[in-house]
Amino acid sequence: MVDTALNAYLPSCGTEPKILHEAMRHAVFSGGKRLRPIVALAVADLSRAQPETVLDAACGIELVHAASLILDDLPCMDDATERRGHPCLHIKFGEASALLAAMALLSSAFELAARNSHEPHHSVELLEHAVGTRGLVYGQHLDLHYTQAKPTLEVLEQIHHLKAGALFLAAITIPAHILGMNENDLGLLKKFAQKVGLAFQISDDLLDEQTPLEDDGKSTFTAFLGRNGAFERMNTLIDEAIITLDSFGAPADPLRLLAQLVRKRVEPRC
Ligand code: IPE
Ligand code: IPE
Ligand code: MG
Repeated sequence: MVDTALNAYLPSCGTEPKILHEAMRHAVFSGGKRLRPIVALAVADLSRAQPETVLDAACGIELVHAASLILDDLPCMDDATERRGHPCLHIKFGEASALLAAMALLSSAFELAARNSHEPHHSVELLEHAVGTRGLVYGQHLDLHYTQAKPTLEVLEQIHHLKAGALFLAAITIPAHILGMNENDLGLLKKFAQKVGLAFQISDDLLDEQTPLEDDGKSTFTAFLGRNGAFERMNTLIDEAIITLDSFGAPADPLRLLAQLVRKRVEPRC
């Protein structure tokens, strides 16, 4: 559903400016797992609503994610060469086109987030909160700062909450807003998103450790807690995340499964 909707939304590669549309499509259709939009669709499931009601918002969140990865890989950021087994966007299309593609994707994200909401400005506000200097951008800023300095474990958790957790949180709060979810359920789902977001970033650290070619000098959970300690911390977070879903019963199964999948990413290697 997400791929079909994104494909229909994004301008074709034959539409001018062709190079930018090609770059945008490359960033979006190069093998992303779609975890954040899946969380958003699972919120609709849980509320017994049609997934179509939150599909645009789910796609908007995925476009923020795609834009954030383009920027994260730039020479002035992580200076990566590969993303999802392909050359990074700035390597394939040049830095200027990569930057412009990221800007265009981010702009589109806000348009999509505002759709299907009785109060579109609040959806936009929630997305801004997740992306801007209270969210992902702040996390990326701290992440870069702490390649020079060593953070405490508390600061490292804060960085991960902001870098990865903020978008997972938006994947809960924006659909919850669209669907008019009650405060109690929303509070529980927010806890779930924060724990899974952090667990996901730890799982990424554990996986990155197998291919330590990039992100050199970054402080990671594995560096702090050791491989086993990081794995245990991730496991505890996933168990806690699943417990927060107890009162939802079977409709929360897709979210439970998603949390288990984060564990499964690294389990065979641990
Ligand atoms: C990668 O996220 C960046 C992190 C927040 C760790 P994903 O692993 O969800 O990226 P794709 O979209 O599936 O490649
Ligand atoms: C990716 O972070 C970007 C965001 C979370 C915004 P990382 O630098 O930790 O992840 P990879 O290894 O590039 O995917
Ligand atoms: Mg990176």
